[in-house]
Amino acid sequence: MAQPRILILGAPGAGKGTQSAKIAAEFDVEHVTTGDALRANKEMDISEMDTEYDTPREYMDQGELVPDEVVNAIVDEALSQAGGFVLDGYPRNLEQAEELEGMTDLDVVLYLDVGEEELVHRLTGRRMDPETGDIYHLEYNPPEDPEVEARLEQRDDDTEETVRERLRVYRENTEPVIDHYDENGVLERVDGEQPPEEVWEDVRATIENN
Ligand code: AP5
Repeated sequence: MAQPRILILGAPGAGKGTQSAKIAAEFDVEHVTTGDALRANKEMDISEMDTEYDTPREYMDQGELVPDEVVNAIVDEALSQAGGFVLDGYPRNLEQAEELEGMTDLDVVLYLDVGEEELVHRLTGRRMDPETGDIYHLEYNPPEDPEVEARLEQRDDDTEETVRERLRVYRENTEPVIDHYDENGVLERVDGEQPPEEVWEDVRATIENN
C-alpha cells in the first residue's frame, strides 16, 4: 500500500503516540496529532468562537475536550497537506467522526486495547524529552543517557486527578466512536498491554495485511 491513510484509536495512555512515531517512520507518512498541535497552540485566542473558555489550555489542563470547531479545523488543514498519514487523537466523539468522514477515506483503523489501571500507571509515569519530543516512562522505558534524564518533563495533564478525568471523558465520548468503527466492521483490534516491541509487531503486520 503506497502511503496508507491510518487512524489509530485508543484511550489516553494506550500507546498511540509511541506507536504512531514508529508507523510514521516505517511507512513514510505524516504523524497528524491533535494533542501535539493543541499543546503547541495552548494560548491561541478562541474567544470569538463562542466557547466556554478563551484558550485551549483551560480545557486541556482539566482533561476536557477542546471544542470541535477548533479541532476540526486543525485536522482538516493537516490532512489536506498530507499524502499518507497516521491520525492520532481524533476523532474523539461521534460528531468529529462524522466530520472526518467528509474529509478523507481511511485504509486502516487500529484500536490499541489497554485496561484502565494500566492506563493510569502509564500516564502518571510518563515523561517527555522537550528537545526531541521522545516519550519515556520512569519504569517501563527510562532513558539511558543521564543528560536526557535530567531534562525530562511531565505533561501538565498527567497528574492522577486529571488522568482520571481524561479517562471519564474518554469513556463518555470516545468509546462510542470505537463502537461505531467496530459496527462498520473496519476496526482492527491490537492487544496494547504487551511490551512496546510486541505491540509494534502486531501494528506493523496489521497495516501490511490491509
Ligand atoms: P492527547 O495528547 O491526544 O492525549 P491522549 O489521547 O490523552 O493520549 P496520550 O498522548 O496521553 O497517550 P498515548 O496513547 O499517545 O500514549 P503514549 O504513547 O504517550 O490529548 C490531550 C488533550 O488535548 C485532551 O485531553 C484534550 O483536551 C485535547 N484534545 C486532543 N485531541 C482532541 C480532540 N480530537 N478533540 C478535543 N480535544 C482534544 O504512552 C503513554 C505512556 O506509556 C508513555 O510513558 C509510554 O512510554 C508508555 N508506553 C507506551 N506503550 C507502552 C507499552 N506497550 N508498554 C508499557 N508502556 C508503554
